[in-house]
Amino acid sequence: MQSGVPTATTSGATPVANAAPSAPSKPPQRIGVTREIFPGEKRVATVPEVVEKLVKLGFAVSVETGAGDAANFADETYVAAGAQIVDSAAKLWAECDIVFKVCVPTPAEVEMMRQGGILIGFIWPAQNPELMQQLTAKKATVLAIDSLPRMLSRAQKMDALTSQAGVAGYRAVIEAANAFGRFFAGQITAAGKVQPAKVFIAGAGVAGLAAIGTAVGLGAIVRANDTRAEVADQVISMGGEFVKVDFEEEGSGGGGYAKVMSEGFQQAQRDMYAKQAREVDIIITTALIPGKPAPKLITAEMVKSMKPGSVIVDMAAERGGNCELTEPGQAVVRHGVTIVGYTDLASRLAKQSSTLYATNLFRLTEELCKTKDGVVNVNMEDDAIRGLTVTTEGNITWPPPAPKLPAAATAPAKPAAAAAAKKGHGHGAASEPMAGNKLAIMFAVAIAMFWFVGANAPGAFLAHFTVFVLACFVGYMVVWNVTPALHTPLMSVTNAISSIIAIGALVQIAPPAGTTDWIRWLAVAGIVLTTINMFGGFAVTQRMLAMFRK
Ligand code: NAI
Repeated sequence: MQSGVPTATTSGATPVANAAPSAPSKPPQRIGVTREIFPGEKRVATVPEVVEKLVKLGFAVSVETGAGDAANFADETYVAAGAQIVDSAAKLWAECDIVFKVCVPTPAEVEMMRQGGILIGFIWPAQNPELMQQLTAKKATVLAIDSLPRMLSRAQKMDALTSQAGVAGYRAVIEAANAFGRFFAGQITAAGKVQPAKVFIAGAGVAGLAAIGTAVGLGAIVRANDTRAEVADQVISMGGEFVKVDFEEEGSGGGGYAKVMSEGFQQAQRDMYAKQAREVDIIITTALIPGKPAPKLITAEMVKSMKPGSVIVDMAAERGGNCELTEPGQAVVRHGVTIVGYTDLASRLAKQSSTLYATNLFRLTEELCKTKDGVVNVNMEDDAIRGLTVTTEGNITWPPPAPKLPAAATAPAKPAAAAAAKKGHGHGAASEPMAGNKLAIMFAVAIAMFWFVGANAPGAFLAHFTVFVLACFVGYMVVWNVTPALHTPLMSVTNAISSIIAIGALVQIAPPAGTTDWIRWLAVAGIVLTTINMFGGFAVTQRMLAMFRK
């Protein structure tokens, strides 16, 4: 293994810098891909398309025979992409420097691992202390893909929890449709009018939003609830309706995750869920608070109140379930309602989930091998890499210290909108309508300011000022009327349009006599930079809009 792996010892200890570049003489490392042995697991940690990219990065790749069979990737396709097929797990673990896996390794698998090897895959270090001990005894360096700091935007391309939850959310709707005896979309046929199915999604995180998009796509009426008010806009932009709990309390626990709510909130939420259970045909639950058992949101009484033939898909089954009657891993019928508690939803779309997972691991490998010489360098100075490295050469480095985030991201959340609570308004302080007298004072101050400017400013300034005020108003109205999901492409196109400053630079490049050379060079630099800004902005906008086109 690369010598640069630091020797940080205790959890949270300041990592030792690892800036040493890979020695050019080191032979390329070999990546091994095992056949997953967890019962029913169909996914594979890499796919032929990604093998080609790993080979281009300089690595040799070995794949255990049959590793991709369940996901429809035959051995021959791996060979065609440049991999070697190895006929046994023991041989693969022994001869590979780095092993890619999906599921948490079993003790028998770790036993086969070579001393000082690198392992990348799901580990869940908090839940598997014995596994961590076994890995340290092997002097292993382990990158737990589940421990990636998700709040770092740079880490999104490596975020396997997100890619897998997205697939699982889609599959949850497909499972619901399979168990449901009717269409999702409303129809008017010669045989009569068909009402659209009503779907309620509890928890609008990654899986929940994917489920909303899928159910809307199938034509259902979709409602969703979450304790974090900030997701309301995301629900709406996916085509759903956000249903509020009639109790004001901020549900965000930081980092995009929820917190445990007060008893008062939970009671109000149960009342709302009971009402939804009576009205809807399908409930998909995805509520999760990291490190806690799944909140029980759907009681046996609520199940009983649902229409016969209704369906519940409980995505949180593995963590104890959001529904009281869920049986993990099974689909059961209770009070005429089918309750699906499958814990392998992503694996049920193995080709898709394997491809996305393989891409996540490839992006991680790119970060680990910036020199493209087939040798991994675990740089503990990098926040993303530090976050997911749970052991280095046998030393436990988990949990990691908090990543260094920009000041804005780490600023403490605003206090709960107590005032809004009293008024019973929307999503907290940000969306709280302004009090009438406060608004009147602001208007009066603004009018006085305008009068002062109008009475005293020179005529030329007034003309520019009028254009400025109108531009602010038009800009505000335009942005306000754009769907929140399109705000990012809107920003990038606005950025591109701001390259109009290129005209100023063009004027300066052929300056009047007497202008100094440095102004001309500044103008050249200005033109180069605005050109990048202009073409880059339009290209990014194009790519983003392409994501919304069907
Ligand atoms: P996430 O953290 O992105 O989303 C969870 C959402 O639940 C958050 O938006 C959170 O605010 C919300 N929430 C928490 N407590 C709530 C409450 N009391 N009421 C309403 N909303 C609440 O998590 P992600 O990635 O979307 O995963 C969701 C669930 O799906 C997890 O339990 C995960 O383990 C499970 N999962 C299951 C799979 C399967 O095969 N069954 C596969 C992948 C994920």
